[in-house]
Amino acid sequence: WGKQGHIMVCKIAEKYLSEKAAAAVQQLLPESAGGELSTVCPWADEVRFHYYWSRPLHYANTPQVCNFKFSRDCHNSRHQQGMCVVGAINNYTHQLYSYGNSKSSYNLTESLMFLAHFVGDVHQPLHVGFEEDEGGNTIKVHWYRRKENLHHVWDNSIIETAMKDFYNRSLDTMVEALKMNLTVSAQTFSDVCVNCRMDGLTISVTGKIAATKRQPVQMSNDISCSNTSTCLMDSCYAIESIHLSCNYAYKDVEQDITLGDDYFYSRYPIVEERLAQAGIRLALILNRIFGEDKPDG
Ligand code: ADE
Ligand code: ZN
Ligand code: ZN
Repeated sequence: WGKQGHIMVCKIAEKYLSEKAAAAVQQLLPESAGGELSTVCPWADEVRFHYYWSRPLHYANTPQVCNFKFSRDCHNSRHQQGMCVVGAINNYTHQLYSYGNSKSSYNLTESLMFLAHFVGDVHQPLHVGFEEDEGGNTIKVHWYRRKENLHHVWDNSIIETAMKDFYNRSLDTMVEALKMNLTVSAQTFSDVCVNCRMDGLTISVTGKIAATKRQPVQMSNDISCSNTSTCLMDSCYAIESIHLSCNYAYKDVEQDITLGDDYFYSRYPIVEERLAQAGIRLALILNRIFGEDKPDG
């Protein structure tokens, strides 16, 4: 996502943090954050050039296929395993588990800022796209009358158009609408992610526009990964994204095409849903790391 998308994800996450997680986040945030997680969520994009090794950690690409396999797809250009967005989420989650351990040698402030950013990115469908077109970066399109590339449309343009048309150009109004229209319900594991048992929650948004009829998601049955449950779960987010890339982002798009109302109205619900899912899942990950609230506690 662009800056606005990352801020939205983290503003949603902040609302779902447990007391313990909120306290740990406060303690880890840099002074400049003003006590708000959302202000540091775009940070990882600002250090992409300075921390050169971190560039491939924002995405994962597949060889033109609509499934994601950790062992095949999670690597950098030098084919180092785990150097992709899924491996990064797993790694920074792991580092944050050393919070409170005085011997921890990690910079946990950076771990938190990376984690919050990458959980956002893995939910941007085209951050799990095709290698050949760099997740839509090399697909030139017109967004209404403006020249863009397809990746940028999903990072920024759809969100900007929605903010302008529906929310008085206000990010906070859009976030409030997303939070209000959010439904989080218990899910039987069968439909969305059979093999990786996500977090047991269905997260959907009933927005201004009725959600488009969703194609059933076909799960691939081998997600090879190291055996930790978080890693399986992170692969799951990537699998959802590549499916959404195939079924929505890339669908009916070719070089130099003009994308306008038809594309916007059919894809916008997906963007809302992914922003909301990213926010809630980020909160769930942080709550798991730093401690859930006890019921009646
Ligand atoms: N660069 C190459 N592939 C990319 C992707 N899928 N997302 C963002 N940047 C990329
Ligand atoms: Zn992007
Ligand atoms: Zn990013």
